[in-house]
Amino acid sequence: MRSFIIKGTICYSLSPKELAVHPNGYAVCVDGVSMGVFAHIPGEYQHLPALDYGDHLVIPGLVDLHIHGPQYTFRGTGMDLELMDWLQKYAFPEESRFENPEYAAQAYEIFARQMKKSATTRAVVFGTRHATATEILMEKLEETGLVTYVGKVNMDQNAPEGLQEASAEASAEATVQWLEQTAERFERCKPILTPRFIPSCSRQLMEKLQEIRKAWNVPLQSHLSENPLEIQIVGEMFPQEPSYGHCYDRFGMMDEKTIMAHCVYSSPEEVQLIKQRGVFVAHCPASNTNIASGIAPIRRYLDGGLRVGLGSDVAGGQTESIFRAMTDAIQVSKLYWRLVDNSCKPLCFAESFYLATMGGGAFFGKVGSFLPGYAFDALVLDESAMPYWSPMDPVQRLERYAYLQTGGEGLLAKFVAGTKII
Ligand code: GUN
Ligand code: FE
Repeated sequence: MRSFIIKGTICYSLSPKELAVHPNGYAVCVDGVSMGVFAHIPGEYQHLPALDYGDHLVIPGLVDLHIHGPQYTFRGTGMDLELMDWLQKYAFPEESRFENPEYAAQAYEIFARQMKKSATTRAVVFGTRHATATEILMEKLEETGLVTYVGKVNMDQNAPEGLQEASAEASAEATVQWLEQTAERFERCKPILTPRFIPSCSRQLMEKLQEIRKAWNVPLQSHLSENPLEIQIVGEMFPQEPSYGHCYDRFGMMDEKTIMAHCVYSSPEEVQLIKQRGVFVAHCPASNTNIASGIAPIRRYLDGGLRVGLGSDVAGGQTESIFRAMTDAIQVSKLYWRLVDNSCKPLCFAESFYLATMGGGAFFGKVGSFLPGYAFDALVLDESAMPYWSPMDPVQRLERYAYLQTGGEGLLAKFVAGTKII
């Protein structure tokens, strides 16, 4: 089923501001790769099987650049604290439970099932510091058919005894063993190095992770400039560095295979570094609101040419829905414009759709569009739960679907690299 044609009302991004719309179009997939969208089926593809979805909306799959698998258990609760206290009171105690593989298997089964049902086709996921539990998470995500990166978290300081790793050596050793177990084991799920954030990692650990990254050539994810107290702590740890981002950079952790979540308070020096190095910013508006971190100036990042995608950041964010992240991104950008900086124009719908598809998709290669050569990740939307009467054009229908549809249901079909998984 990796070569076929989908007929429907097809929408996808051409650039941050430009949406392509093909009512009654034909999206052609050959060996899991898009050949483009056509008004009539070209002769060379006439022999392919066609799936006729009538006038249903068909869009590229959505990409979640930042989500915590183990925190799915307490999503939608514990929104009364800021980051550093929130970690101590909610995230760390829950993550400690993943020491127990049976607990991990049950919790990750639920997480993986929900991710499969969601509109997300590709995700970059934090596990916990436990290698066994993280391998279980990878097994379960592999079974969903999604394409994912998953990280065993590194943390050897500033966490509870049971959760933090015994030493930099122990953390590095466990990481190498985990890479040996998982680097080649799965087709769709790959490991990503995951130092939790600067406050959780000793210098010695960061040096070891730098060596591991060189040896294994794996991507890396972490958190950057999310919360004022966090940034103050990092400043005290590395008083000589010009920014938080430079602390990662000194360990070779800022490049085009790096995702940094948040970047709410990035200074001009830090923004310059992110841009120079080609680092991806994962914008997580729900999390930044729930744990009162602030608002990331995404307009400035987009206009400055930074690479940006969206993250749900469950459980700072309450839902895995990237449709919800799209509309949250627009809403917080309006508050930023109105209340903080009226030179930062709000994001428009086309831009947030771009962030959710092509913007984040670029981390995976040619992903997030139906332009020729892109991986064929597609969603067929079911609008039956939100009936409409007065006529609407396809972009209005898509916008309305994103705003009204928040739970991840409402998909008629979902394809990842040409494989139908729903
Ligand atoms: N910074 C370090 N760890 C975390 C986490 O689990 N969630 C969020 N939102 N920020 C973090
Ligand atoms: Fe996070």
